[in-house]
Amino acid sequence: MHRLAIFASGSGSNAEQLVRHFAHQPQADITLLATNNARAGLIDRKLGIPTVLFDRNTFYHTDRIVRLLQQSEIDLIVLAGFLWLIPPALVRAFPDRIVNIHPALLPKFGGKGMYGQHVHEAVVAAGETETGITIHLVNERYDEGRTLFQASCPVLPTDSPTDVARNVLALEHRHFPLVVDAFLATLSPRMV
Ligand code: GRF
Repeated sequence: MHRLAIFASGSGSNAEQLVRHFAHQPQADITLLATNNARAGLIDRKLGIPTVLFDRNTFYHTDRIVRLLQQSEIDLIVLAGFLWLIPPALVRAFPDRIVNIHPALLPKFGGKGMYGQHVHEAVVAAGETETGITIHLVNERYDEGRTLFQASCPVLPTDSPTDVARNVLALEHRHFPLVVDAFLATLSPRMV
């Protein structure tokens, strides 16, 4: 049984898709939700999973979150719209066991400041004819970990950033749970 923790800062729609998917997956359990935002939509979704809320000091200057994840015997951390950089200590504690989804085809439109609507605005402004999603492992340089999966969708000349965001989110909801599930199957049981 693999135990997952999901980190989210925003509306949590990807987190909800993951919870729904893994509710029917006996090999995995979503054990913990984590957020840095007391007003995150994630909380309002009442997904019925223990949720930890933390601030910057806790996340970057204590080992409380790492210890909580280790004590919860988490095998995989899934970042589903989590906007803070992962501290090196957390990356080191979970090497190749942190997965992130980015709403663009990395390496294009990645890096600092490239999140949410900013990404889609940049894609439209650049006149791109396609965009998509990238699901990747997280290392200390955030958007530069090994890519696990990409899917693309067209960007029409008439598409607004909102249209692009809607199309990209549909890709996320369709693929993220399946990619996480497939990646779990490659993991050996966590050495405690
Ligand atoms: C998604 O667009 C994801 O690619 C990005 O943050 C957004 C999360 O949306 N990392 P939601 O909170 O899952 O609805």
